[in-house]
Amino acid sequence: MHPLGGSLRLGGLLGLAVASQGSRLHHRFGGGGNQTDRLTECLTEAGVPVDMAGTAEYAIDVSSFNLRLNYTPAAVAAAGTADHVRDAVACAARLGVKATAKCGGHSYASFGLGGEDGHLVIEMSRMNRVVLDDETGIATVEGGARLGHLAVELWDQGKRAISHGTCPGVGVGGHVLHGGYGMSSHTHGLALDWMVGATVVLANASVVECSETENPDLFWALRGAGSSMGVVTEFRFKTFEPPENLTYFVATAQWPTEDRALAGLAAVQEYAKTMPAELNMRLYIANRFVNLEGLYYGDDAALHHTLAPLLDQANATLALAQTGGWLDQLKHFGGSNLDQGHGHEEHETFHSTSLYTGPLDEDRLRAFVGYWFGPAKNNTRSWHVQIDLHGGENSAVSVAPRSTAYAHRDSLLMFLLYDRADRGEFPADGAALMDNFAAAVTAGFDPDDWGMYVNYPNPSLSQDDAKARYWGPNLARLRAIKKDVDPDDLFHYPQGILPA
Ligand SMILES: Cc1cc2nc3c(=O)[nH]c(=O)nc-3n(C[C@H](O)[C@H](O)[C@H](O)COP(=O)(O)OP(=O)(O)OC[C@H]3O[C@@H](n4cnc5c(N)ncnc54)[C@H](O)[C@@H]3O)c2cc1C
Ligand SMILES: *[C@@H]1O[C@H](CO)[C@@H](O)[C@H](O)[C@H]1NC(C)=O
Ligand SMILES: *[C@@H]1O[C@H](CO)[C@@H](O)[C@H](O)[C@H]1NC(C)=O
Ligand SMILES: *[C@@H]1O[C@H](CO)[C@@H](O)[C@H](O)[C@H]1NC(C)=O
Ligand SMILES: *[C@@H]1O[C@H](CO)[C@@H](O)[C@H](O)[C@H]1NC(C)=O
Ligand SMILES: *[C@@H]1O[C@H](CO)[C@@H](O)[C@H](O)[C@H]1NC(C)=O
Repeated sequence: MHPLGGSLRLGGLLGLAVASQGSRLHHRFGGGGNQTDRLTECLTEAGVPVDMAGTAEYAIDVSSFNLRLNYTPAAVAAAGTADHVRDAVACAARLGVKATAKCGGHSYASFGLGGEDGHLVIEMSRMNRVVLDDETGIATVEGGARLGHLAVELWDQGKRAISHGTCPGVGVGGHVLHGGYGMSSHTHGLALDWMVGATVVLANASVVECSETENPDLFWALRGAGSSMGVVTEFRFKTFEPPENLTYFVATAQWPTEDRALAGLAAVQEYAKTMPAELNMRLYIANRFVNLEGLYYGDDAALHHTLAPLLDQANATLALAQTGGWLDQLKHFGGSNLDQGHGHEEHETFHSTSLYTGPLDEDRLRAFVGYWFGPAKNNTRSWHVQIDLHGGENSAVSVAPRSTAYAHRDSLLMFLLYDRADRGEFPADGAALMDNFAAAVTAGFDPDDWGMYVNYPNPSLSQDDAKARYWGPNLARLRAIKKDVDPDDLFHYPQGILPA
């Protein structure tokens, strides 16, 4: 089925052992010029296309989703094939430059550019082929595809799907390798739960296959901390057949006072513990409104029946309940233009942070509501807090907590706290608004009681704090695997896994 089968293919064109060739390469590429010149020469010699500074393509490559965090790469390799990726990795290793894969470029912390200046960015977005095998239902997907393109191809080729997040421009690379929570995840798990195998370029420019049975440690580490381990040139996903009809909905909540918000939050949290598997829902709190929104695997009548007790308790009213097919609900949540490819442009100016927690006790609910109705409501920027009902008894995510490197399966709630400047500059001290919001909840928490999502990274955190929050109990095993596959930390980024 797959051209590489189970083989281990060693670095081709440039596939010399990296360390031992250092001096010779220094001689070959170190003659003059700067790191950009040396990389360009190495890439060009290997036949890897380069997007040169000053070109329109380069401008697209380096324009980050978060306009607050801009970084300048040493060079951008415009990969069109897996061989290009391998040869680019070999060039970076030889020249002592950090290498970073960029897929959809939607990292909140601009980790697709390395999260700092001076990396070799391997731009993957031209590699977005999706091929569904009718018989096995397994999809082979290149490592530069975006979520909307993947969804449209799986549907068009065989009416199949995987579960994933809502934004069609997000890349499969970043999304799947670190989690991937969306409007089907309570029913069908994380995006990474659909991964059954991958082809990976390692730091020594060898190309390896991994799955549950082949290089299983690497496969485990990729599913939660993938960007630290290698570059995935190809994913293999199992897929499911979505039901013919699903119902997407929005309920508006009337919580005008702190007391009402407190009671409403408590009701939603209680409901989340046992809500049915077919229901996917999040609370969306903005400065001026509160919505419950979600996707139900069933029809309108069954949704009304399922939600009635909660809506009653939480003083919320269904404003929209629309039945449609798989692509209809994706368009509802992600916009009508699903099929996004290379060159997709989307930007915001913002700071965000995240939290995973169990059920909050009354003091913590009060602290959350107090901050919300205090410093947060008193702010004119466009902030929101999204609370996904992530876990609970019937959640497909809340199984086998250590089965992948994703560390938060047993958390009931997943918070994204997001603060955007729609006009003008984001203030230099602006990060405090959401950071303090999160701190109001975690004050006094035991370190084991909460975590953060590496796909909603907070770039202001110290490296050690970030890693402890993102990977918690999985960190030691990840560092051991990192030491094996990338001992010199070629795939470095500021909050990535360091070798043991
Ligand atoms: C508008 C928007 C909506 C979002 N909605 C959701 C949501 O509903 N649910 C959710 O869970 N998340 C969501 N996210 C977060 C999203 O999952 C992450 O930002 C994700 O990491 C983006 O992936 P990317 O490939 O676009 O990013 P990039 O910036 O290209 O990459 C992110 C990281 O992944 C690495 N990487 C990328 N491709 C590869 C590869 N092929 N091999 C190895 N490493 C690779 C990069 O080096 C970098 O470290 C959203 C983000 C945005 C901007
Ligand atoms: C590298 O050198 C070239 C000239 O050889 C120059 O044009 C370029 O600006 C330099 N780049 C950096 C990052 O210094
Ligand atoms: C889906 O909805 C259509 C239109 O309402 C209906 O005709 C069809 O029977 C439904 N299918 C299922 C499986 O419920
Ligand atoms: C619902 O509204 C009633 C009347 O306004 C109020 O007494 C009650 O506390 C509210 N409940 C919640 C959960 O907000
Ligand atoms: C609200 O903003 C005003 C003006 O910036 C400030 O004086 C006041 O202290 C703020 N109140 C709260 C609760 O943060
Ligand atoms: C590359 O690294 C992998 C993982 O450590 C190792 O198994 C393989 O032997 C290495 N290949 C070469 C050519 O050094």
